[in-house]
Amino acid sequence: MVIPTFNERRNVQPLRDRLDRTLQGVSWQAVFVDDDSPDRTWEEVRRLAAEDPRIHCLRRVGRRGLAGAVMEGALSSSGALVAVIDADLQHDEQLLIPMLAALRKGEADLVMASRRLDQPGETAGLSPFRRALSRIANRATAWVTKRDLSDPLSGFFMMRQAEFDRLAPKLSPRGFKILFDILATSRGGLRVIELPFTFTPRVAGESKFDQRVVADYTALALSKISRDLFSPRAVMFGLVGVSGIFVHLAVMRATLGFGFTLAQLLGAATAMTSNYLLNNVLTYRGRSRTGWRLLGGYMKFVALCALGLAANVGAATLVRSLGVPWWASAAAGAVVGAAWNFLSTATAVWG
Ligand code: GDD
Ligand code: MN
Repeated sequence: MVIPTFNERRNVQPLRDRLDRTLQGVSWQAVFVDDDSPDRTWEEVRRLAAEDPRIHCLRRVGRRGLAGAVMEGALSSSGALVAVIDADLQHDEQLLIPMLAALRKGEADLVMASRRLDQPGETAGLSPFRRALSRIANRATAWVTKRDLSDPLSGFFMMRQAEFDRLAPKLSPRGFKILFDILATSRGGLRVIELPFTFTPRVAGESKFDQRVVADYTALALSKISRDLFSPRAVMFGLVGVSGIFVHLAVMRATLGFGFTLAQLLGAATAMTSNYLLNNVLTYRGRSRTGWRLLGGYMKFVALCALGLAANVGAATLVRSLGVPWWASAAAGAVVGAAWNFLSTATAVWG
């Protein structure tokens, strides 16, 4: 069992007790993967591990992220089967028994627990906003994974360890949606069974789901649609760039009274700043710069983007001189500039 935790101190022992009760007669072990929680969840896990040899603690420092935590936990286990379950008791652990039975009978390669999104009463643990979001994401997911599953964003599933090991190098450690990634990456290669369950509200602690999770999911889905041509990080950088166009135009519109050239300058400067700040929190979450380093990174970002602008104009001029239409030449220049901005800032600013 892989159990990702972040500030779940009070849920650790109750979960262990529930697993103990439910999995009588099954040989199991659980690895709690804790991202150095401020509430010191890992300490509580260590305390339990000292008295219960089935419990293991993997404390990660300097890293944050649900998908990556699940990946490392799953890669550290050596059973025939691996299950992922939330630590907060929102997942009904009794479902592990039918999951196990289905895999043992060879009926499937992966069994997932699906929240019944169509029945509001069955997902009391989800806000209306989250429920709507899940539905939209489900449609997109059905398209990317070429399967019609009722809850591909579920965080509760069991699969063969060997299958996980095979897929692991192609999975993205960023983001929240490891099951989605597994389904999208296997491209219909896994036989999947869904078991419905009731997603109960949290008792202790709070959810880590936020707007950034939505952004991460969008980047991962687009990356999969591009068949991995663009990494989720490159997609995110691109999305931030597109947002910059809107910022630029909005600022220009508001400042046109100062004259076109000044408005263009203000628009470009604001867009560059918002691009930098958004990339810092979204694209490079986990390595975000803060304090004085935020300012230093900004200087580098601006300098590199200025070079990117020169590369953009240079490339566009070159392509144009070959007789290519002006708009295609401009687009080629933009692609060169964006690629430069992404690759150079990835190492120089956030490396
Ligand atoms: N190690 C680690 N690092 N664990 C994390 C992190 C992280 O950055 N973020 C969240 N977790 C842990 C939580 O401590 C919890 O055990 C589990 O992952 C799920 O996090 P929640 O914050 O409780 O998520 P939720 O209940 O809002 O979201 C549920 O729905 C999602 C789909 O919409 C969960 O079932 C998710 O697994 C699921 O993907
Ligand atoms: Mn939860």
